[in-house]
Amino acid sequence: MSSSSSQVETVLITGAGGFLGSLLPTALVQHEPDTRFNFILTDTFEPKTPSFSSPSSSSSFSSSAEHKVHTLSSDLTEPKQVQGLFNTPLGKPDTIYSLHGIMSLGSEKDFDLGVRVNFDSTRELLNCARRIKEDSGEPVKFVFTSSVATYGGALPDVILPTTACTPEGAYGMAKLMCEYMVTEYSRRGFIDGRSIKLPTIVVRPGPPSAATSSFVSAIIREPLSGNSTPCPIGKSLDDPLLSQTGIWIASPSTTLQNFVLARRIPSSRFPSHSRTVQLPGFKVTVKEILEALGEVLQGGEEEVKRMVQFEDDETCRRIVASWPSEFDVSWAVEELGFKPDSGGIRGVIQEFIESQKSKAG
Ligand SMILES: NC(=O)c1ccc[n+]([C@@H]2O[C@H](COP(=O)([O-])OP(=O)(O)OC[C@H]3O[C@@H](n4cnc5c(N)ncnc54)[C@H](O)[C@@H]3O)[C@@H](O)[C@H]2O)c1
Repeated sequence: MSSSSSQVETVLITGAGGFLGSLLPTALVQHEPDTRFNFILTDTFEPKTPSFSSPSSSSSFSSSAEHKVHTLSSDLTEPKQVQGLFNTPLGKPDTIYSLHGIMSLGSEKDFDLGVRVNFDSTRELLNCARRIKEDSGEPVKFVFTSSVATYGGALPDVILPTTACTPEGAYGMAKLMCEYMVTEYSRRGFIDGRSIKLPTIVVRPGPPSAATSSFVSAIIREPLSGNSTPCPIGKSLDDPLLSQTGIWIASPSTTLQNFVLARRIPSSRFPSHSRTVQLPGFKVTVKEILEALGEVLQGGEEEVKRMVQFEDDETCRRIVASWPSEFDVSWAVEELGFKPDSGGIRGVIQEFIESQKSKAG
């Protein structure tokens, strides 16, 4: 489907109350100003209706009157509630963004709940999407959000699109099973799917969470908000461990732009055996993050030392060290057209500062 002034598109977003899901409607409106959207937004609670104003300024780039929004709360572990998403006043979706989920730590702690939320509900969602093709003849675009947690075991220094996925946790296992279903449902023509594997998205707003990756955002977000925060890697700012620990990250804005692009890529660009793609990101070390933070904090390096408490945690360090931190995304960028971040870690920090200013003002 190409953008035209008369185009109306119905988009269903699950996990629409979460970090990325709550930003996605605005990103779609911003990047596709000629499309009139019908949004069906769902989460375990009723998601907020988006205001469609630019995240970096107070100016509106599109009137909310142009778009229709239907919000509803649903527990997607209940098949009837999944089916209900296809029976709203806004009708059947043209595109589904599947963003709901329970993250790594939650999936490890409660295996059965993790499988129900991360796999069973997605399977039901795929089956509902498949019925649209049976009724209308048109396959629904299905964008599934996956993770680098699908990798595990011995890995090469640089992960290639052909590197085998052998996850070592319930979260990665469920994500990988969904990737397989998205590929097979697409190969059979039930849907037109694509699974996008996300880097760690930084800076995540809100209070620190119990997830292992949470410190990556916290060591930026908390000092910039005037709060001190623990860093589980290293014993001091001079510890060599900080330069040895790399993480594959991306900014929210670039990732959301890639969410928008994901559904526009012609299906013919994917090989028949896989609809999965690693989204662009970049490798940054903990040391580089803290150096960049020192450049923007009043008080520089001394303020970083004051605000960041080094509480080296061997378990956390081992988990972080086991994550793949470098990916070959040349296929994603050159052939599929996904965008990489251009501003590095400084750009990521600046984006967070701007987003806080626009929230406050
Ligand atoms: N943010 C990242 O760094 C990152 C990295 C890799 C992959 N991902 C994936 O991208 C997607 C979006 O990430 P996010 O950071 O916005 O996640 P998030 O945790 O902020 O949002 C997920 C949402 O899913 C909802 N949810 C949980 N159980 C549900 C249920 N039973 N029924 C309905 N909704 C339910 C939650 O309420 C939550 O609002 C997730 O699937 C995540 O696995 C995110």
